[in-house]
Amino acid sequence: MKPDVLVNGMQMPHVMEALEKSYTLYKLYEAKDRDALLKEVAPRVRAIATGGHHGASAELIDALPNLKIISSVGVGTDAIDVAHAKKRGVAVCNTPGVLDDDVANLAIALLIAVTRKLVAYDRYVRNGRWVKEGDPPLTRSIAGRKVGILGKAIADKLEAFHCEVAYHTRNPRADLPYPHYPDLAKLAADASVLIVIVPGGRETEKLVDRRILDALGPEGVLINIARGSVVDEKALVEALQDGRLGGAGLDVFANEPNVPPELFAMENVVLQPHQGSATVETRRAMGDLMLANLAAFFAGKELLSPLP
Ligand code: 8YV
Repeated sequence: MKPDVLVNGMQMPHVMEALEKSYTLYKLYEAKDRDALLKEVAPRVRAIATGGHHGASAELIDALPNLKIISSVGVGTDAIDVAHAKKRGVAVCNTPGVLDDDVANLAIALLIAVTRKLVAYDRYVRNGRWVKEGDPPLTRSIAGRKVGILGKAIADKLEAFHCEVAYHTRNPRADLPYPHYPDLAKLAADASVLIVIVPGGRETEKLVDRRILDALGPEGVLINIARGSVVDEKALVEALQDGRLGGAGLDVFANEPNVPPELFAMENVVLQPHQGSATVETRRAMGDLMLANLAAFFAGKELLSPLP
């Protein structure tokens, strides 16, 4: 008999296919009466397959008394009540590692897009302004710039672009050869680019506030590929409107898919619809790892990527 698994949001086709093959699936997102479905399957369900957006609330965890594992596509677990899962003895698996490369690539792409005005100048060409107005103003180089990283990935890629790297994490990391700043405001003041790549959730909420944005300054660029919640979005919009911040490359927002409309007309801002890990290759690897964790659980084997 196939084990029972609850899915609370649509997954990629290859993941759905694999799930259907190995498990009896209960699709919460298709249920007309969500509570009735939960009540009916509660005694049998030991696993939830989810994703970074749907997560798993305390309420959902509590509706499933025999739940043992939540396996999620995505590295961010801010939509999962991890503390509650832990209390209930439910393992939480995410998909670390496999997406770092593409997320880092998008951060670099956003940084270059903002500093070299890629999107604005694409429009300049398309709208016939090059012919009418001639060459546009010069842009800015990223070589030699000091880039502060709030988090830890990306540094090696920035080195290839001849950037100077420094980082802020709560504690210095032995594996990083770059200067560590215990004070984020000091890092923002010393750097001219700040790349945000820390987990979301309460601990990092609005870590980048007006003070940090002002420290980054009118020549500074903010890149956020982490979570919208890490940046005070209202303060960010105001800093950009006032010219207190030079530019921003944003892949994530506080209330996705809603983006502050004030940003739309800003030529010094490049926007993406949460695309960090959204390549065919990486999303496949993430889905595979989520499935592998479920398979390991049902085979009684060690989980591949459980949260500690
Ligand atoms: C995805 C992400 O948007 O991994 C994360 O934390 O933000 C992204 O890769 C999402 O979680 C996929 O379900």
